[in-house]
Amino acid sequence: NSMLSWQRTSFHFQPEKNWMNDPNGPMFYKGWYHFFYQYNPNAAVWGDIVWGHAVSKDLIHWLHLPLAMVADQWYDQNGVWTGSATILPNGKIVMLYTGSTVEAVQVQNLAYPADHSDPLLVHWVKYPGNPVLVPPPGTYKKDFRDPTTAWLTSEGKWRITIGSKINKTGIALIYDTKDFINYEKLDGVLHAVPGTGMWECVDFFPVSKTEENGLDTSVNGPGVKHVVKVSLDDDRHDYYAIGTYHEKNGTWIPDQPEIDVGIGIRYDYGIYYAAKTFYDQNKNRRVLWGWIGESDSEAADMKKGWASVQSIPRTILFDKKTGTHLLQWPVEEIESLRLKSNEFNQVSLLPGSVVPLDVGPATQLDILAEFEIDKELLKKATGSNITFSCSASGGAAERGALGPFGLLVLADESLSEQTPVYFYITKGSDGNLKTSFCNDQSRSSAASDVNKQIYGSFLPVLKGENLSLRVLVDHSIIESFAQGGRTVITSRLYPTKAIYEAAKVFLFNNATNASVTASLKIWQMNSAFIRPYPNK
Ligand code: FRU
Repeated sequence: NSMLSWQRTSFHFQPEKNWMNDPNGPMFYKGWYHFFYQYNPNAAVWGDIVWGHAVSKDLIHWLHLPLAMVADQWYDQNGVWTGSATILPNGKIVMLYTGSTVEAVQVQNLAYPADHSDPLLVHWVKYPGNPVLVPPPGTYKKDFRDPTTAWLTSEGKWRITIGSKINKTGIALIYDTKDFINYEKLDGVLHAVPGTGMWECVDFFPVSKTEENGLDTSVNGPGVKHVVKVSLDDDRHDYYAIGTYHEKNGTWIPDQPEIDVGIGIRYDYGIYYAAKTFYDQNKNRRVLWGWIGESDSEAADMKKGWASVQSIPRTILFDKKTGTHLLQWPVEEIESLRLKSNEFNQVSLLPGSVVPLDVGPATQLDILAEFEIDKELLKKATGSNITFSCSASGGAAERGALGPFGLLVLADESLSEQTPVYFYITKGSDGNLKTSFCNDQSRSSAASDVNKQIYGSFLPVLKGENLSLRVLVDHSIIESFAQGGRTVITSRLYPTKAIYEAAKVFLFNNATNASVTASLKIWQMNSAFIRPYPNK
């Protein structure tokens, strides 16, 4: 066990042991951030799912609380599955969650705090009349799950959406309710996309087109766009799209059908799933949580006794510049963990160079970097019609005229283990530049039972923008944000040598024909306090 303990993270949310998956019911209540999660109290693999619970003052330091809900009723005996919280105007909370019944039918259940005056919301009561919703005719009994936070219609009713599918078409069913007990199913669906399969953990929320703050889930009107996010059971990724919500018939239309939800843009191009946002009325922002699983073997997970972490919560904003993307950024509270920093200004990276960055041990870092490429060389480069893709075009060892260049993280001195986080620019035969953003895990570990995929995606870079990068490194996880969070990649990494004091960070430029200048600020990061419940 202790051999693998270095893989435990230091400032990402994790239970003390065993399996965790989706974030559930996040909210801010009476001074505390509440976080619930899918949890197996018995093993480091999925199964026996109940709701874990923790609270925090700042989304960084946590106190574990007793399990909020266990599988003790016929309507959730096979699992207390994913759900969402709604804070009513009178301050009361309702929790809707999916139960897998004795017969493994998926139904929706209602729960509420036993004592609203308890800011820690330790005890939960399940509504005695559960379930409140059963799979409607025409859907599958095992594909009707994960109710959203409710939002208000202008008639004053509450509205929710729940993911399902019909044949291979992913759908978001829509219901109105006045009391969270009786529901009226709307004709039609919020949205449907053929070929995308079961939609898990649907999320639906407004974003402001003009303001740099988040919006309560019920906000609607001019200046507002609506986001639909789905987690595709078939390909295990979270996709979102931006569009327009039509309250009257309860439908949502994507701005651009060719990048509709499920076929277009992902929250994260690495390992990241079942994400859920909440409106944080404390700081007037929308915050995104996402489940980051392991990418080693199940045997390794059982050996180390735990599996999964949660992402650092990310604030979410509409990207005014592209109009198609969201911007995700680690919540500002993470900066309270910053310790000593090092700055590197205008480091010049000639083609083929690797430059060590002396920052001390490099297992807990917050890195801000900006890259500038010689403009003359960019102009002179010849275009071609070769299309580049991170995953299909070979990793960071594959040299092109204008890429790859970036950082090597969790690398050992000899670079026998390293994970390049990098940009790769290509010029089309039309003369246009295209940038990709990638994480290359192929040399991340000497171990063989770990995922070594090359992750990444096309990255929109607008006129006049330098390439910018933020990377959070935390032992076995890196979260990397390009262009202010326009494109994000999370990787789980299991180096065997680049650990503890031996972990280092480097700059590299493996382009054959681009001179790059890099400026960076790198902080050592403190560990977060994630404390067990005292009475245990
Ligand atoms: C997504 C998911 C949800 C379900 C829960 C069960 O990861 O499959 O659809 O409610 O996990 O743990």
